[in-house]
Amino acid sequence: MKNSSNIKINPIFPDTFIWGVATSAFQIEGATSTDGRGSSIWDDFCKTPGAIVDGSDGEIACDHYNRLQDDLDLIKGLGVNAYRFSVSWPRVRPGGSGPWNEKGLDFYERLIDGLLKRGIKPYLTLNHWDLPSELQVSGGWAQRDTVERFVEYAVGIDKRFGARVASITTHNEPWVMATLGYEQGVFAPGVKSRADAVQASHHLLLSHGLALQAIRAQGSKTRLGIVLNLSPMHSATDSEQDCAQTVLEDGKLVRWYMDPLFKGCYPSDVLEHLGVDAPRIQAGDMAAIATPMDFMGVNYYSRSVISAAGAWENKQSGLPLTEMGWEVYPEGLTELLVRLHTDYRVPPMYVTENGGAFNDTVQDGRVHDVDRLEYVARHIEAVAQAMRRGVRMEGYMVWSLLDNFEWASGYAKRFGIVHVDFQTQKRTLKDSAIWYADMLSAAKKAYSKDLASCEIA
Ligand code: FCB
Repeated sequence: MKNSSNIKINPIFPDTFIWGVATSAFQIEGATSTDGRGSSIWDDFCKTPGAIVDGSDGEIACDHYNRLQDDLDLIKGLGVNAYRFSVSWPRVRPGGSGPWNEKGLDFYERLIDGLLKRGIKPYLTLNHWDLPSELQVSGGWAQRDTVERFVEYAVGIDKRFGARVASITTHNEPWVMATLGYEQGVFAPGVKSRADAVQASHHLLLSHGLALQAIRAQGSKTRLGIVLNLSPMHSATDSEQDCAQTVLEDGKLVRWYMDPLFKGCYPSDVLEHLGVDAPRIQAGDMAAIATPMDFMGVNYYSRSVISAAGAWENKQSGLPLTEMGWEVYPEGLTELLVRLHTDYRVPPMYVTENGGAFNDTVQDGRVHDVDRLEYVARHIEAVAQAMRRGVRMEGYMVWSLLDNFEWASGYAKRFGIVHVDFQTQKRTLKDSAIWYADMLSAAKKAYSKDLASCEIA
């Protein structure tokens, strides 16, 4: 492990920079049937045989619901100034519409107040995939009514918490929900229909824009935005086929979301490719989607290498791979951020998720996760590199605070900078967490020194 006395903060990061850790409700809370919480599509999906690699579910997860105060102390101990979390829609409005659940809302009261009391800014996400089951009965995100239900939910949460949080994110990774959930069927709700997936993506985007308008209409001053999962796409070879496929894949992942949000239209090459599966769009939809945002969140894990024959395997590159089989490719983050800044009129950006799954072992109360530490350090450097090239970045958040329920991978993949023993729920800081905390405390010292020298001068 690196010697903590050598850790320095890169001077490109201003003292206002947001340093955080991120989680999501379903992945850590547990307590899925406590205090009136309703069921979500992820509770249902976990019951589908074979859906989750280790047959697990979110019933207990990190038991965060019952360990809130201790976990808040843990976050405080890291020295971060921000915590990104999501509200569980079925916990606060169990049926997706109808009555709100006061006990569920109360949990987020305690969470937000607990953060503020500890000097940590709350970054709230409305939808990190756990749609109330009742809304799936009529088609979930593939159904236009869900847009209205989401806007009601967004308005209600803003009314209650908007004034106390640093920002509200509408959706986390709409591509994942639409494509993995409704086209490939490997994530909840497990639907396999391209037409449904495309319609779901349109409804997610539309509900984002309408939620922004409705929240602002009630006078809220909260900063509003969305979080997208984006990657640079690299062609496996220079062949015409591989290059053409790379352009299309970039269209489906990056431009399909960025173009409507920032240019008010879907990319024409992807529309043409979709043919009869193109989305049904009503008058006014595109303008609503392009409602200006205050910030944008980018989740970055790796690049994608595209081969028209589908023959690419990550290990071919010779780069280190994480346990997910994803290449460690920090320069892709710089490339992506610079591209977003150049091609779109983006508002200030945050890296809202970045991290790696690695095999960890606890030895004498320590977890020497050198690979994760290096991964995080190199990606922070990649953000600095983008800033040197003129990109407006306001924050960086590690995924994740805790080892947690990694969706279809169950508990087999550990992304936490804090280790969780799922038998005992014991939390152990990994070396990456200690390094991150040391870096943040070095940052604080450097800033206060700067301040002191300014005062003397
Ligand atoms: C992202 C998700 C997050 C987590 C990481 C590893 O796609 O937003 O919940 O699962 O991947």
